[in-house]
Amino acid sequence: MTILIEQPEFEGGIGERNKGPVDENELVLDGGFVVPETMPDEGFVAPDTNSFGHTFRDYHVESERQKGVEDFYRTNHINQTVDFVRRMRGEYGKLNKVEMSIWECCELLNEFVDESDPDLDEPQIEHLLQTAEAIRKDYPDEDWLHLTGLIHDLGKVLLHPAFGELPQWAVVGDTFPVGCAYDESIVHHKYFLENPDYKNPVYNTKYGIYSEGCGLDNVLMSWGHDDYMYLVAKENKSAFPSAGLFIIRYHSFYALHRADAYKHLMNEEDIENLKWLKIFNKYDLYSKSKVRIDVEEVKPYYLSLIKKYFPAKLKW
Ligand SMILES: [Fe+2]
Ligand SMILES: [Fe+2]
Repeated sequence: MTILIEQPEFEGGIGERNKGPVDENELVLDGGFVVPETMPDEGFVAPDTNSFGHTFRDYHVESERQKGVEDFYRTNHINQTVDFVRRMRGEYGKLNKVEMSIWECCELLNEFVDESDPDLDEPQIEHLLQTAEAIRKDYPDEDWLHLTGLIHDLGKVLLHPAFGELPQWAVVGDTFPVGCAYDESIVHHKYFLENPDYKNPVYNTKYGIYSEGCGLDNVLMSWGHDDYMYLVAKENKSAFPSAGLFIIRYHSFYALHRADAYKHLMNEEDIENLKWLKIFNKYDLYSKSKVRIDVEEVKPYYLSLIKKYFPAKLKW
């Protein structure tokens, strides 16, 4: 593994921590969405509780963890600016940090747990394979979607020292466009008031620096594991389909796939791909439960998918 990066600097730092009370009306939406009474789609039966025995995405459970999540979003919303995203894309888009296979990346990621996510307290590889296997069961013919389940969170290696050990707020959590007005459906929207772009007339209108139907490809998204993995999958000249890339880039974009915001920026292809993202997303959430996966048993299948869609070694 070649390591060529130093710790990037952050304007405004990680920021001071909010000491205020948790707003009970706001839900933090990272690993999933508010659980409906019954799941509208056929085929997939969602478990009732997550690893901690709580309802999924239940941020009302009194806990230090919940307060940590609100602090997390305050820092995230203050620091995710157009300038920040451009700098991160410029730096990480070089893909000159590491050369490794998809599976090596799964193993590397296994060292981390996502602190923004109230539903997940297990090694990431469990979550990846749970997601992939649940999809495989219901959509046996869509092998690219199984692989999407396996790789969608690999961008979280940004937390690793080999990738500059980015702070959590620059890696995980819900994502949103920058360069245009922050939609009110975005979790903890009030913290955008402290973001310098919020008052910038170039960036704070409905379209901002974009135009109607310009396509989400042309929209800068807040920086994190989603956009990073999208760049990796796209730039390594993979045979991976456009719907898979779309899922990877927007799987934490809850304002889009739960609240239907930002439709005015979408083009025809985005509208098609959004259907797959909505299917994918319920597996991303509900597979975070105590379903144990025998990694060695399923590994040959996933290695064959990796071989089909990606080069043996990727630039990261
Ligand atoms: Fe994710
Ligand atoms: Fe995930």
